[in-house]
Amino acid sequence: MMADVLITGGHAGLGLEAATKLASEWHVNLVLAGRDMNKVETAAQQLGQRYGVRVTPLSLDLASLESVRAAAATFRDMLAKGKVEPLQALVCNAGVQSLRGPVSYSSDGYEETFAVNHLGHFLLVDLLLDSVADGGRVVFTSSGTHDPETMDGKSVGAAVEPDAVALANEGKNGKKSISGGKRYSTSKLLNILFSYELDRRLRRAHQPVASIAFDPGFIPETCLSKSAPKVARWLIRTALLKWVSKKLGVTMGSLPFSGAALARIAMDPAFANASGKYFQSKTGL
Ligand SMILES: NC(=O)c1ccc[n+]([C@@H]2O[C@H](COP(=O)([O-])OP(=O)(O)OC[C@H]3O[C@@H](n4cnc5c(N)ncnc54)[C@H](OP(=O)(O)O)[C@@H]3O)[C@@H](O)[C@H]2O)c1
Repeated sequence: MMADVLITGGHAGLGLEAATKLASEWHVNLVLAGRDMNKVETAAQQLGQRYGVRVTPLSLDLASLESVRAAAATFRDMLAKGKVEPLQALVCNAGVQSLRGPVSYSSDGYEETFAVNHLGHFLLVDLLLDSVADGGRVVFTSSGTHDPETMDGKSVGAAVEPDAVALANEGKNGKKSISGGKRYSTSKLLNILFSYELDRRLRRAHQPVASIAFDPGFIPETCLSKSAPKVARWLIRTALLKWVSKKLGVTMGSLPFSGAALARIAMDPAFANASGKYFQSKTGL
């Protein structure tokens, strides 16, 4: 059966690398979901032309629950009209990290990191789960930073107690927010907790869909750290810092390796029974 893969943030960074592998090696049709339609349409056109697959752009701003609802409705409409196929994978990959400056909030008034990385994806999965084909997967790009016991977790700021109400309201009413690093690592912990709970519910409902979490490892080349000071951004891309990070025990990834791994988790039959599992770029892949 033909199927599509929907990937959030598939026009940039790790998502684009995975989308490229999905198109070039797995020859699957794609739905690229993102908030900047110029960027999304450009990437969709290039991937479609280069690899001869159908790539459908989908407008989605994860910082707006209304936009998530509209994106899900558009996808379902396209599905009903036969413009796209049921999903082989719904890849929740987009993410933000806000390392300095004032705390930002989504259009619904929730702290942005929590809203984009967790809440928007949570709603998207809820609305599109029945569009995932039997044997398909929901995949979450999480991060090793979720674990405060590891070097990954310590490097950006240890995840805090995942209290949704507190996280949504960080920095409000004159209260000092936890750091942007902690907000990020906690949102990545939420990705994993959601992935595990989704697996539990899918198994209980005997639904043949897998829920899998993935840590791509540290990839300094993407735009994730764009909120960091310029010097820090330059520093983290140097070979020396990568070497030091590795020596210190940070889980290292790379665009080619981690992008290919994400594509495999979405497509490879070897991962069909991997529901409820968490894979890191350095192990088990
Ligand atoms: N890079 C790393 O070291 C690393 C390590 C572990 C995990 N990760 C995870 O990997 C995933 C991909 O990140 P990346 O490293 O590839 O960073 P990136 O280059 O900054 O890509 C992030 C993607 O998310 C999209 N996005 C941001 N806010 C959005 C919103 N409100 N609505 C819809 N899309 C939005 C961005 O779109 P725009 O172009 O519109 O901004 C972009 O496509 C993230 O979940 C991140 O947490 C990355």
